[in-house]
Formats: sequence, structure tokens, C-alpha cells
Amino acid sequence: MTANQAEKSILITGASTGIGRASAITLLEAGFQVFACVRNQRAAGALRASLPAAVADRLSTLELDVTSPEQIRAAVTAVEQAVGDRGLWGLFNNAGIAVNGPLECVPIDALRRQLEINVIGQVAVTQAFLPLLCKARGRILTTGSIAGFSGTAAGLGAVILTFWTGWVVDHFSWTSIAQRTLKMYEELLHEQGRAFTVG
Ligand SMILES: NC(=O)c1ccc[n+]([C@@H]2O[C@H](COP(=O)([O-])OP(=O)(O)OC[C@H]3O[C@@H](n4cnc5c(N)ncnc54)[C@H](OP(=O)(O)O)[C@@H]3O)[C@@H](O)[C@H]2O)c1
Repeated sequence: MTANQAEKSILITGASTGIGRASAITLLEAGFQVFACVRNQRAAGALRASLPAAVADRLSTLELDVTSPEQIRAAVTAVEQAVGDRGLWGLFNNAGIAVNGPLECVPIDALRRQLEINVIGQVAVTQAFLPLLCKARGRILTTGSIAGFSGTAAGLGAVILTFWTGWVVDHFSWTSIAQRTLKMYEELLHEQGRAFTVG
């Protein structure tokens, strides 16, 4: 760890499991201060309990559902109080869900929910943390998906389901809708990020 790293704070959404959890542990072990966002105290406790004490000292857990404006506001306040003028060095927008299945079978509300979490949620969290990111000339990272480039990969599960049920239905990569929208947003953010002095 360098002294420099110890002063850098990174916030990760969806840190209870999978990529978010692994990233939180890796960044803590590398010496960064990590704000790991989870959706309940049980997940916060489980993450903390899995870490050696020296590493856990650099961990702060926040309850954050990315679809909740109140929880986003509360998270910004908590991070602001903790980092002060140093600002936020990194935002890792990782929270997300996958929705796939035959076009005929998946309720349209599942797609609405996915767009709300994977796209609107990411934009809302980024917007809320921009002032703190600008202070640190920070960076924004997003977990996208191969589904943002190709629907075939994400549609594989749907193909299997189609064979399994024996129905003659189209398979459809719902996830690609959200992931392509997210990819477009990321590209725009990258193009225009310099205007916000985000590194
Ligand atoms: N693994 C893959 O192959 C793959 C492929 C393509 C894209 N991705 C993307 O990578 C990211 C992480 O995926 P993963 O594989 O690590 O999946 P995961 O283990 O299911 O992790 C998803 C995380 O997002 C959180 N989450 C879900 N809804 C949320 C909400 N409304 N607000 C805040 N957090 C929420 C989950 O929290 P809870 O535990 O509380 O549910 C969990 O911490 C996702 O954005 C996913 O779309 C993954």
C-alpha cells in the first residue's frame, strides 16, 4: 500500500456478492478506503466478517438500493462527511440484475425493473456523487455486459429454456436492452466527462 492509496476512497454499489464483493475485497487489500454499498445489515455484517481486522478498518458499509432517492441522498451525505475536501476518487457502478427469457413469457415489469436498476439507478448514483468525484478528479467505472455488444450470448439461457419447455417461441435477450442502453450512456459519459473534470 502507498500513502497515496490510503487517502483514496472508492464507492462500490452492489458489493454484497459477486463482482462487487470481490472488487471491494481486492481494493481494500490494495490499501484503498472502500465504501461498500449493500442492501441490508446482514450483507454488511457478512462482508465485514470475511475480512481480516487490518483490512476491515478501511471498510465502510452503506445501505444503498440504487432505486431509492432517499438512500442515495443519505449515502452522499455519509461519504461527504467521511472524505471532506479529499472527495471521492472512484465510483464503481456495479449493482445490477439480469433479465432473460422468451419474449412471450417475461413480464414487462421485469424489464422496467431492470432498466430502473441497471440504467436509471447508475445514472442517479453517478449524478449524486459527481460533486465529490470532481473534487478528487475521480473516475467512474461501470460493470457492463457482453450483452451490450451481442444479444446472442445473453440469450443463451433463453434458448435453453425454450428447448426445455418445448415451446416454439422466440428467445429474446432482455438484458441486451438494458446493457446496450447502459453502453450508450457510458460512451456519452466518457465523451463528456472532461467537462466535469472527472479523470
Ligand atoms: N457475472 C456475469 O457473468 C455478468 C455478466 C454480465 C453483466 N454482469 C453485471 O455485473 C454486475 C455484477 O454482477 P454479478 O455477477 O456480480 O451479480 P450478483 O452477484 O448478483 O451481484 C449483483 C449485486 O447487485 C446488487 N443489487 C441488485 N439490485 C440492486 C438494487 N436495486 N440496488 C442496489 N444493489 C442491487 C445485489 O445486491 P443483493 O445481494 O442485495 O441482491 C448484488 O450485490 C451486474 O451489474 C451485472 O448485470 C455480470
